[in-house]
Amino acid sequence: MNILAFETSCDETAVAVVRNGREIISNELFSQSDIHALYGGIVPEIASRQHMLSIGPLCDKALENLPPDLQIDAVAVTVAPGLIGALLVGVNFAKSYAFAKNLPLIPVHHIRGHIASAYLSEPDLSPPFLAAVASGGHTQLIHVKDYTVMTVIGTTRDDAAGEAFDKAARVLGLGYPGGPAISALAESGDDSKYAMPFCQTKTCEYDMSFSGLKTALLNLCHNTRQKGQELDAPSAAACFEKAICQSIVSRTTAASKALGIKKIVMAGGVAANARLRRELVQAFGEHAHIPSVYLCGDNAAMIAAQAFYEYQDGVKGNTALNAYASIPADGDLNGLCQQ
Ligand code: KG4
Ligand code: ZN
Repeated sequence: MNILAFETSCDETAVAVVRNGREIISNELFSQSDIHALYGGIVPEIASRQHMLSIGPLCDKALENLPPDLQIDAVAVTVAPGLIGALLVGVNFAKSYAFAKNLPLIPVHHIRGHIASAYLSEPDLSPPFLAAVASGGHTQLIHVKDYTVMTVIGTTRDDAAGEAFDKAARVLGLGYPGGPAISALAESGDDSKYAMPFCQTKTCEYDMSFSGLKTALLNLCHNTRQKGQELDAPSAAACFEKAICQSIVSRTTAASKALGIKKIVMAGGVAANARLRRELVQAFGEHAHIPSVYLCGDNAAMIAAQAFYEYQDGVKGNTALNAYASIPADGDLNGLCQQ
């Protein structure tokens, strides 16, 4: 089954074709990050407008060099969560395409898509496993019992890990997106130079919180400046990065032990972080499954991969399909789409 998928939930316009949820046939992406970098972060209205400009040409490009005998069997699209105006561009384009070609329409949850990016990197990977997803908007621990059956066991209390990286980069005067910039700067730093708080959450041991860490970095910058000293920015970045990685790895380890699940999938934009990848492999060895770096950030191939399993589970949309800014990854997407 060949699925044409669209992803427009944030600042990446993406279109892909994937066979049987595992084999990428085409994978096109236009990143708007250079445009948003001018403003130091994502401007939702600009994101929507840019998606409108990019999605048509990108769809043509994704369909341009397909094998001549390949036929598209279904259309998939990210319906939640994300910037509502941005999501609506993808949803309406996908609806129109599916309606015009008389193809089934499959709504996909963005976080479930991130998890499915691991199936593209490792064709033999299958649930059950514990997924840690860290992106610009979410940091979650999810018990993936089957391809479409999952339970969120830990989530973000405040800032998501990617958001924390982006805000820290702004504090240190680096560009957007912050994750890669902090990571590059941290390479030459001393990760034991500055003390950073370890995130603690009282009611759920798998929840995460990073806003205290962000404040600690901000205070460090201010205090250093007030004392007339110069901040060792690479070391500040290294300490910050270390604290985020430690939180994610320790929460994942605790959940893995408590649930008795050895197999771990790490996904989402932050999973591109080299230190996090290294520490996960140190902690879980061969049981750590992390998608190739180019599949960690937003892309449409991951949406097509998850759509393959959602379709088999009977998830379907129609011309009344809407977009939703926020739906839990373990929510009833099909129920919503049938309304
Ligand atoms: O999953 P994603 O592409 O988009 C969302 O769904 O939000 O994640 C984007 C986030 C950004 O906050 C970005 O700073 C972060 O992923 N990111 C990284 C790295 N590359 C991207 N964070 C840490 N280290 C990286 N190498
Ligand atoms: Zn994402």
